[in-house]
Amino acid sequence: MIITIDGPAGSGKSTTARKLAARLGVPYLDTGAMYRVVTLAALDAGVDLHDEAALTAIAARDDYELDLGPTHIRVTLRGHDVTEEIRSMRVNDHTRYIAASPGVRRILIQRQRAIAARLGSVVTEGRDQGTAAFPDADAKFFLDAALEKRAERRLHEMLADGEEVSPAQVLANLDERDRTDSERAVAPLLVPPDAVRIDTTHLSIGEVLDVILA
Ligand code: DC
Repeated sequence: MIITIDGPAGSGKSTTARKLAARLGVPYLDTGAMYRVVTLAALDAGVDLHDEAALTAIAARDDYELDLGPTHIRVTLRGHDVTEEIRSMRVNDHTRYIAASPGVRRILIQRQRAIAARLGSVVTEGRDQGTAAFPDADAKFFLDAALEKRAERRLHEMLADGEEVSPAQVLANLDERDRTDSERAVAPLLVPPDAVRIDTTHLSIGEVLDVILA
């Protein structure tokens, strides 16, 4: 069984996907982590983030790995644990270049399908899971919330991780990412036509989970 959860940053999709997967006893796949680790690898390599061939070559390497646990995801790059580093502001500020690369998207979608085929059942979350990666998924959800609410949630997460960021920085970064995610020519953020849409602005994670399970 494949369940997809798509939506913008801060919509609650990561926490919801994790809890839903735990409830169903299946693994969850955070596809944003894949774009993030490729971003980090590209920054480390110092390549031009508009160089399509270089980005595609980095995505095609097998020096990064996702360890999918029942309630967590651990990410390694060249053997180093980068689970926290991929959530840093430095990575946040550059994921849009990697997400806009057709070559990177092609490779990551292939890898997402291979992971799902190996696992059998998965809750997978991202921006294009119900549209490009798994158009035939068994159930699709699209989560959204007001920008200010999403920024507030992201700020709490980042402060809890020890990042030094201001509310204004987080709001500006989310606003910019919303724009680039929706406007990019390659795989823009779209609501799958057959998805259940949930506005999480005034809902707790528990309430979102109840809607999904129902
Ligand atoms: O969900 P997130 O903030 O971890 O996503 C990180 C970046 O990757 C963000 O710029 C959106 C992009 N992304 C994407 O384009 N497609 C996905 N399936 C998942 C994430």
